[in-house]
Amino acid sequence: MRFEPLSPRCGSEVHDVDLRQLDDDDIAVLDRAWAERGLLVFRGQQLDPDDHLAFARRFAEVDVNKFFTPVAGHPEIAEVRKEPGQLTNIGGGWHTDHSYDAAPARGSILVARELPPTGGDTEFLHTGEVLGSFDDAELAELRTVRARHSNHHVFGAQTGYAVETDIEMHNPELTGEAVHPVIVRHPETGEESLYVNVAFTVGIEGEDDETGKATVDRLIQAIADHSTTVRLRWEPGTVAMWDNRNTWHKAHNDYHGHRRVMHRVTVAGSELGA
Ligand code: SIN
Repeated sequence: MRFEPLSPRCGSEVHDVDLRQLDDDDIAVLDRAWAERGLLVFRGQQLDPDDHLAFARRFAEVDVNKFFTPVAGHPEIAEVRKEPGQLTNIGGGWHTDHSYDAAPARGSILVARELPPTGGDTEFLHTGEVLGSFDDAELAELRTVRARHSNHHVFGAQTGYAVETDIEMHNPELTGEAVHPVIVRHPETGEESLYVNVAFTVGIEGEDDETGKATVDRLIQAIADHSTTVRLRWEPGTVAMWDNRNTWHKAHNDYHGHRRVMHRVTVAGSELGA
């Protein structure tokens, strides 16, 4: 396997690999690179849904998404679909998958199934890069802060994004909230990263709604200002896997009138510590 960096901090493209034929040493190398780089991209793969699940299970058990439409015959795979007549896409704003869970998903593995002729890129950044922009006193203060993450406003029955847009979502009664440190220590690498995101971080523990939102907005702005982004142009056969503890991603919604279908398997993580 050969690793080509996609930016100084975030992402590597992995060459000379067939994801259906990996031994345990290969998996250990990918496991480490995934944790360190946040994003791995593979081209020219031929994963059917069973291969996709088998590859994901080499890293962790599947953490089934409760809200997305499952792929027919494969309930553990979430379908990320936009039809030609739809206006809204799934994951169009910067986010981290499943940060609203007490034990957020370790990562997600996305396989391109049907792509628009142009557009539909996914963008990524590494949320460890921003930490260098804070001085020691700010970092010490941030290490004491915990943020609230919720998905009521996205997947909920009354006011959710799912209700207000033309996206089909499921199980609005299963929405929930969790609290995590603002700076988390990566369980595999031991490195710190800033764990807030635009879609799901709604406030700060112990702060009123307005003050907490201002704090979250300030941290989100810092990430936006101090991170190098990687823009992934999908091709048939592209597979991307990202680490949800140290990256953000967003799917560009610039291909109206065309279908885009992706299959996502999300694998389980653990509770996050400071
Ligand atoms: C997601 O947010 O998980 C989907 C990303 C994409 O469709 O590119």
